[in-house]
Amino acid sequence: MRVLVSGGAGYIGSHTVIQLIAAGHDVLIVDNFANAKPTVVNRLEAITGRHLPVQAFDLRDVDKTEHLFAHEQLDAVIHFAGFKAVGESVEKPLEYYENNLGTTFSLVRAMRRHGVAKLVFSSSATVYGTDQESATEDRPTSATNPYGWTKVMQEQILRDVAVADPTMRIALLRYFNPVGAHESGTIGEDPTGIPNNLMPFIAQVAVGRREKLRVFGDDYDTPDGTGVRDYIHVEDLAAGHVAALARLARTDDPISTWNLGTGTGTSVLELLHAFERAVGRELPYEVVERRAGDIATSYADPSRAQAELGWVAKKSIDDMCADQWRWQSQNPEGYPDA
Ligand code: WQD
Repeated sequence: MRVLVSGGAGYIGSHTVIQLIAAGHDVLIVDNFANAKPTVVNRLEAITGRHLPVQAFDLRDVDKTEHLFAHEQLDAVIHFAGFKAVGESVEKPLEYYENNLGTTFSLVRAMRRHGVAKLVFSSSATVYGTDQESATEDRPTSATNPYGWTKVMQEQILRDVAVADPTMRIALLRYFNPVGAHESGTIGEDPTGIPNNLMPFIAQVAVGRREKLRVFGDDYDTPDGTGVRDYIHVEDLAAGHVAALARLARTDDPISTWNLGTGTGTSVLELLHAFERAVGRELPYEVVERRAGDIATSYADPSRAQAELGWVAKKSIDDMCADQWRWQSQNPEGYPDA
């Protein structure tokens, strides 16, 4: 299929582009590079050995989006583009609602005008609100921050679109905690500024960009007192998108929801020690107060994806750390600007 990948130069989008091509699909990347560097595309072309068509614009521009759908033959869309920083969303709620919902309105309208029915949507475990232990897809959704609400709302919008237009074939994929990098070490997670997320922060401590890890609380009701999460290798996550896309080609359901996680929880300290094994030395950390809004435990029940997509996460925590470390040590400052 010819697949439009919105946000295709981003962390998960770039890894998914590689696996789409490996699965025999053609890809068109649309990215406004608000949260990605153009260098990523060069690296993707080196890995895939293919020229990758890219259109650099904001999908909220309905004229440019219409022009793209009118002039490009497309079979499906994978929609990654959006803002995703929880803390930033609390400070800038209007930007988050306008950007995340606006891109989806523009994209889905163009899809329907041009008969593109297959949509894989990048959602998040954050829609489970504070009830994230062994989460199953039928749980009610809620959020504790504007970013999370944009995901809850986009899911609802897409469920309503599927009722109005049952020819649509939509997959809502709920990610848990994506980490790791492509085995080449040439692409990976490159957060702007101080990383919010645990794994990139640990990697930056290991490479000497950060002094030490601050562990946000060790008084949670978990085995070692630190937060427990379902870390999933970004390559397994990308494979989940390819599997979901294939399923859309043969399902009669206008909309489906799947958790993409390992089903296993790992604590902050367990992840830190796994990373130390990858680096081969101890890494400095200090336990500090809890981070506002954090929950103790979050991990998926991925059995529906296994049963319906034939998909299961294969990579271990040690794989995730080894691959993340290869990317970070080969790219201490992340991607170059030019
Ligand atoms: C993981 C654990 C922290 C940083 C977030 C978003 C979620 C999704 C994934 C988009 C927690 C602890 C972290 C640090 C720490 N994003 N931690 N020191 O919060 O589970 O999920 O990213 O969809 O929406 O909420 O991920 O990596 O920030 O935190 O101790 O410097 O690591 O307390 O227990 P989180 P995280």
